[in-house]
Amino acid sequence: MKKKKIVVLTGAGVSAESGIKTFRDSNGLWENYPVEDVASIEGWYRDRALVLAFYNARRREVAATQPNAAHLAIASLEKDYDVTVVTQNIDNLHERAGSSDIIHLHGEITKVRPENCYNERDGFSVKHVKDIGYRDINIGDLSDDGVQLRPHIVWFGEPVPNIEKAAEEVEKADCMLIVGTSMQVYPAAGLYLYAGSSTSIYIIDPKDVPLRDSRICHIKDVATHGMERFIEIIKKEL
Ligand code: APR
Repeated sequence: MKKKKIVVLTGAGVSAESGIKTFRDSNGLWENYPVEDVASIEGWYRDRALVLAFYNARRREVAATQPNAAHLAIASLEKDYDVTVVTQNIDNLHERAGSSDIIHLHGEITKVRPENCYNERDGFSVKHVKDIGYRDINIGDLSDDGVQLRPHIVWFGEPVPNIEKAAEEVEKADCMLIVGTSMQVYPAAGLYLYAGSSTSIYIIDPKDVPLRDSRICHIKDVATHGMERFIEIIKKEL
């Protein structure tokens, strides 16, 4: 029998219990930097060295971090369901927890690309993206054709190439689970609107969520406990 489809949209909150700070729980600062200084295309052209140092620190932090029980529980859903993880996170904790179908909306901390490989539709040519693992990238680290490398991260002001693919997955979902995102950054925050009228939507977040949609059930808890509660509910529902 065909497995029921669950799309899991995650944000920084799913990695919080692994020790990685969220974005908006620290009044808009990301590790003490204004987000626009280190996560925008203007910030890159203003100070490449600052941005490279910032992501080098994030990359080292991810290397020293482990997936938590929420990442593992999301991966375990694949035993019984057809699961696609759509994450806003740039860490690789879903991969390391064992999830096998992951769409990164905002890029990946272990990948880089030349700063000039830009095209209108995708924002970058995927063939130029390279995986560097956890090593640092500095000024003077160049691509094969001599162009400065930059983090393969979608910065504010840049297109989100995987959003159409993510929306197509949500349209096919029997159930959508949203874990640990403040739903403040578009287009990711609008993905739930692609869910069908009969698709159940669950949100796991310890704080109140800003959405008013009759299909949404809010599991007010942290991700690790919330996932236990979700799995109990979904066993009966799907
Ligand atoms: N378990 C579950 N949720 C949690 C936990 C936890 N332990 N701790 C915090 N949260 C929730 C917060 O209540 C908040 O709703 O996680 C959410 C984190 O929200 P943000 O910090 O805004 O992170 P996110 O929604 O992922 O940001 C989206 O904004 O800065 C950009 O590109 C960046 O991908 C990021 C995007």
